[in-house]
Amino acid sequence: MKINILEDYQELSQAAATILIDRVKKNPKSTLGLATGGTPKGTYQQLITDHHQNGTSYQHVTTFNLDEYLGLAGENPNSYRYFMNAQLFHHIDIKIENTLIPNGVTMNTVEECQRYEQLLEAKGGVDLQLLGIGSNGHIGFNEPGTSFESRTHVVDLASTTIKANARFFPSIEEVPKQAITMGIGTIMKSKEILLLVSGEQKKAAVQRLLSGEVNEEFPASILNQHPNVTILMDKAAAGQGDRHRVLNGSY
Ligand code: F6R
Repeated sequence: MKINILEDYQELSQAAATILIDRVKKNPKSTLGLATGGTPKGTYQQLITDHHQNGTSYQHVTTFNLDEYLGLAGENPNSYRYFMNAQLFHHIDIKIENTLIPNGVTMNTVEECQRYEQLLEAKGGVDLQLLGIGSNGHIGFNEPGTSFESRTHVVDLASTTIKANARFFPSIEEVPKQAITMGIGTIMKSKEILLLVSGEQKKAAVQRLLSGEVNEEFPASILNQHPNVTILMDKAAAGQGDRHRVLNGSY
């Protein structure tokens, strides 16, 4: 794993955007795996600025998002479809039909999960997957205990995840209890992974990830076995200033 520690969230976002832009320029037909949540917002902002200033084009790019809440339609401001449209897709030249997100209001979740996997396979898989991490080590919405072999599936969200995400909803009661997420096996098939970690509240998760122990109770730990992972973290997440701080470099 390559580890790069950035001064703060702003620098982290800039560094992540630089990597994404580089991959898109090298392969304008890239398939990108995207994440929602608070962490990638700054990265998306940088991509939009670069698109307007330097004309990086997403016309031939396809994107697959990691997850979507069950029961929320795309018009719902709390859905991840709405988030992605507002935070990125509506501000760059990507074709909206090339932006794939699981359908949260499907009548048949089994079929929807299979359809998503098939679409991914037909595209030849994800070239670069952007990830965030939950404090409990979740990636996508794969909560602790999820099989490392899992493919796109329905999950019951952990109470800690519901609490953490309540900040985006009018009240905690309105946070959906279930979601569709790419599986850990699906994520691990990506050719390259870029994990973004920001803030002191993620410090413990970073330490556990970098301990090297691989365990289904800490889903992100599987990233230790992926051949091409870069972790970008800010100083707060790296615990810089602490005695057991993380150092830049390869592990
Ligand atoms: C989002 C996702 C989640 C988040 C994680 C961190 O699509 O799949 O795994 O990346 O919950 O969220 P933030 O960035 O809000 O701390």
